[in-house]
Amino acid sequence: MPGGLRLAPSILSADFARLGSQILEVEAAGADWIHVDVMDGHFVPNLTMGPAVVEACRRATRLPLDVHLMVEEPSRFLEAFADAGADHLTIHIEACPHVRQVIQSIREMGRRAGISLNPGTPPEAVREILPLVDIVLVMSVNPGYSGQQFIEAVLPKIQTLRRWIEEGRFAAVIEVDGGIDAATAPLAAGAGAEVFVAATAVFGHKDGIGAGMLALRTALSLAPA
Ligand code: DX5
Ligand code: ZN
Repeated sequence: MPGGLRLAPSILSADFARLGSQILEVEAAGADWIHVDVMDGHFVPNLTMGPAVVEACRRATRLPLDVHLMVEEPSRFLEAFADAGADHLTIHIEACPHVRQVIQSIREMGRRAGISLNPGTPPEAVREILPLVDIVLVMSVNPGYSGQQFIEAVLPKIQTLRRWIEEGRFAAVIEVDGGIDAATAPLAAGAGAEVFVAATAVFGHKDGIGAGMLALRTALSLAPA
C-alpha cells in the first residue's frame, strides 16, 4: 500500500445523530480513510458499532472504510462487514489463534487485511505474518475507549516493525491508533508510522472538525486540504 502520510479519523467520537455530515466534513478536511472502531464487549470492555454503521458510512463516502475489529473470534463477522462495504478489515493478534487463515479469508473477500497489536504485545507476535498483511495497526492506548493518553513506550515497537518491513521489502503500512494529536502524531511519524487514527483530536477539537484536521496536517507537515 504505497503512499505518504495519511489521516484516518475515527468516527468513535463523532456525533452519531449527524454521522453522514460529519463524515463529509472530515472528507473535505483531507481524511484519507474513515476508521470504524468495532467493539464487542468481550475483547474490550466497551460495545460500539456493527455492520449497519459501516453500511451507513458506505452511503456517505467513497473513502476507504478502515474497520478495526476489537472482537473475539473475528472470523464470524468478516463477511458481514465486507458485505456492508468495509475496505480494510483489521483483526487483533491477541484475539486470533489462527491468524493466517483469517487473513486469507479477508483476502478471498477482496479486502485489505490488517493485523493489530495491543500496547503490551511485542512486535515478535506479528513478525511472521508481516509479509501477508496490508496494514499493521499499532495500538498506542489499550483499546476500548477514545480520549486516552498516548503511550510513548510503543515508539520503539513502531521502529522495530518499520525496520522489519523495510528489510523484508514488505508492502504493509504502519498505522498508529490511540491518543494521536498534534503533539504525539510527529513522534509516531518519527518512529515510522504512516497512517494516523484520531478520534478526540478531530471530532472533539474545540474549534471543530476542520480545525482538528488542520492541526494534525500541520503537525505532520502535510499541506492544508
Ligand atoms: C481505541 C480505538 C481508537 C480510538 C482512538 O480503542 O481503537 O481508534 O477511537 O481515540 P482517540 O483518538 O481519542 O485516542
Ligand atoms: Zn481503532
